[in-house]
Amino acid sequence: MNAVSLADSVRFYSTYFDAAPVVFDGRERAVRAGDALILFDEVLSPPDPALETTLEHVGWTRTSAESFFLDVESRGITVETPPTPLFPDFVFMYFRGPNGERIETTSGPTDDFAHVHLLATDLEFATGWYRDVFDLTPLFGEPMSFGGLFTRNNLPIDDVVSLEIFGDFSQTPAEPAPTDDRPHGHIAFAYRDLDRAFARLERAGLEIVDPIADRAPWGMRSFFVRGPDRVLLEIVEDAN
Ligand SMILES: [Fe+2]
Repeated sequence: MNAVSLADSVRFYSTYFDAAPVVFDGRERAVRAGDALILFDEVLSPPDPALETTLEHVGWTRTSAESFFLDVESRGITVETPPTPLFPDFVFMYFRGPNGERIETTSGPTDDFAHVHLLATDLEFATGWYRDVFDLTPLFGEPMSFGGLFTRNNLPIDDVVSLEIFGDFSQTPAEPAPTDDRPHGHIAFAYRDLDRAFARLERAGLEIVDPIADRAPWGMRSFFVRGPDRVLLEIVEDAN
């Protein structure tokens, strides 16, 4: 994420979402949310929060979503959409984070970080692209239609988080802007053998936005590629 204040961002996610601060290069620059890491890139001016990109939000699940809402609301979180029922025993709600980012919370089986939410101008293309590039298995063979409002598919990633992708949705920008400078700047996938991953994705013809380099202050090597609908993706070396 792009953040004007590392301290404010770390405090926000640790205060409201039980995320644990993580130190890189001597400063708290990230939080751990479940098995995922949210890294904050320090930027000089506030990222543009206008949501004309397709990296729409990230989301948590809560076993008691309504009581979670009452708790964080009483502690001052910025509410965008209060709990809204979608199905029996299922609500969603939106908040805004300190960089203007949208954060969703839904009812769910665990109290955990759950999904990265993408919009697609072509859902089948985007689903196939993430399936092939990152060797993921879509949950649905065919896109699920949701009451004529949108279609969706979902690609779980190692039981850590899932990519939730909406197609045919009225809020999808016709010509999405690149995500790079927006609050949610990019998504990262980790691979043990980075050089092999680079060779494979370059061979597959992906647009390489930035080749392999050491990334300060993170102390890790990575490269960047462009995904469908101008989403920026980072591939990082998993040193563990
Ligand atoms: Fe979502």
